[in-house]
Amino acid sequence: MRDEYKSSTVYQIYIKSFCDSNGDGIGDINGIRKKLLYIYSLGVKYIWVTPFFCSPMADNGYDVSDYRNVNPMFGTMEDCEAMIREADELGMGFMFDMVFNHTSDEHEWFKKALAGDPEYMDYYIFRDNPPEWTSVFGGPAWKFVPSLGKYYLHLFDPKQPDLNWDNPKVREELKDVVRFWKEKGVKGFRFDVLNRISKPANLEALPAGDGSYFCKDGPHIHEYIQELVSDTGIGEMITVGEMASTTLEQCIKYSNPEGTELSMCFNFHHLKVDYKDGGKWTLLPPDLHELRRIFTTWQEGMSKAGSWQALFWCNHDQPRIVSRFGDEGKYWKESAKMLATFIHLLRGTPYIYQGEELGMTNAHFTDISQYQDVESTNYYKIMRENGVSEADALAILAAKSRDNSRTPMQWTSGNNAGFTSGKPWLSVNPNHTKISVDAEELDPDSILNYYRELVRLRKDCPAISEGNVKFLDSGNENVIAYERTLGNERVVVLCNFSGNDEKVKGIDVKGKVLIGNYSGSHKMMKPYEVLVILES
Ligand code: GLC
Ligand code: CA
Repeated sequence: MRDEYKSSTVYQIYIKSFCDSNGDGIGDINGIRKKLLYIYSLGVKYIWVTPFFCSPMADNGYDVSDYRNVNPMFGTMEDCEAMIREADELGMGFMFDMVFNHTSDEHEWFKKALAGDPEYMDYYIFRDNPPEWTSVFGGPAWKFVPSLGKYYLHLFDPKQPDLNWDNPKVREELKDVVRFWKEKGVKGFRFDVLNRISKPANLEALPAGDGSYFCKDGPHIHEYIQELVSDTGIGEMITVGEMASTTLEQCIKYSNPEGTELSMCFNFHHLKVDYKDGGKWTLLPPDLHELRRIFTTWQEGMSKAGSWQALFWCNHDQPRIVSRFGDEGKYWKESAKMLATFIHLLRGTPYIYQGEELGMTNAHFTDISQYQDVESTNYYKIMRENGVSEADALAILAAKSRDNSRTPMQWTSGNNAGFTSGKPWLSVNPNHTKISVDAEELDPDSILNYYRELVRLRKDCPAISEGNVKFLDSGNENVIAYERTLGNERVVVLCNFSGNDEKVKGIDVKGKVLIGNYSGSHKMMKPYEVLVILES
């Protein structure tokens, strides 16, 4: 049903770290099947699972060598079909992750291209004299192939060559992949780095710089998305595109209310408020003024246009939010609940990333050998080459590495957090002795139970799923407040982003407390307090 996603919540699974069913230390499809009832208990409607297709795993599956087959490391096609069916029986649907900006260099198309087959060379982006672009993971974005005397574009790793969407054959191939999974019963799709697929014309004439930046929101982007959606008939399904560094104007089109493109987009502006001068590999406390400004612009702008946002703090590329904008020490529980409420009651569809509902924290690795992620290990080298000390480089990785979110899911306080009976591919966070599903199930006041309440509130309260949104002036930079209104109903959300008591001025609200993490008053807020009041 179209629009059902407005009152629904999505759960994201990073398959490699979720649950290992066969003791090889790697999460898998049968592990997901074992935990479907747990996911169901959260009240979510959709499950986005990161890629488990055939892949040499240079970027943990975001380098696909066969879009229609399951990587044996994760299971079989029968397991996958059973997983889809079993979720369906529980009234939940899977969203599969389509990595269509690039393939693996081990995909048969690229192998043929490398062998000099002109038909397949035109599936990719080969040039004689490309501009000096850098890639997202560090180093050049073009790789020279001596046998062809040409360079190919890879906005990410050299093992992830970019596809040429200007070639209609490529677009047809990719539509076929979507149709294939749709026929298997998948209920929606997430499209990886989608706003990079349409490359600029006359590439070779462009200056040196960040390749990814030059390829964002390219000349045919809307045309290609519309074609993909209409030709595969996915307009009625839940679809989300990963749209980094884009603008409000573009996103209004990407998720336009006519439904010609996607249901919603992932944007990342709010997750750059702790980047010094826009750089990820830096340390900076979050700029709350900027955070409020970004949410105000995007929420109110999208609302006015009738477009829709994906709401999230965490995913497999982001550090853990409680460590990042909260306080994982003294106010662990309070700050995790405040951050969750802030996101879940906004206008859009919330995404919960595995373990976020437990208040899982950053990994706190202390040695470079503990990291597995290609971006983290590359940037460690780059930082060291640029004179950053070992201690500083490790401190930056400890705050920014993608592996912070990829440590295994903490099911129990026991061996390997109940994730595997073998040796986990990435170390388990030692704090699983305190933070685990088992521990939180026993605590009625747990973060886990609080997330269940938030998911339920969205389903039960139309002002939250459908209402207008407006940011309020709390007279205090540390307290961000907004209201959601529909008919006579007004829901006011007040969030203290600081570890101190904070005074609120100028917000008048009387009514029933819908949810909160203290039994406080909205005039004086306790550390990381959140208070949600319904006026009707
Ligand atoms: C997206 C994915 C990320 C991956 C990249 C390249 O940003 O979320 O994990 O490395 O695309 O596919
Ligand atoms: Ca396994």
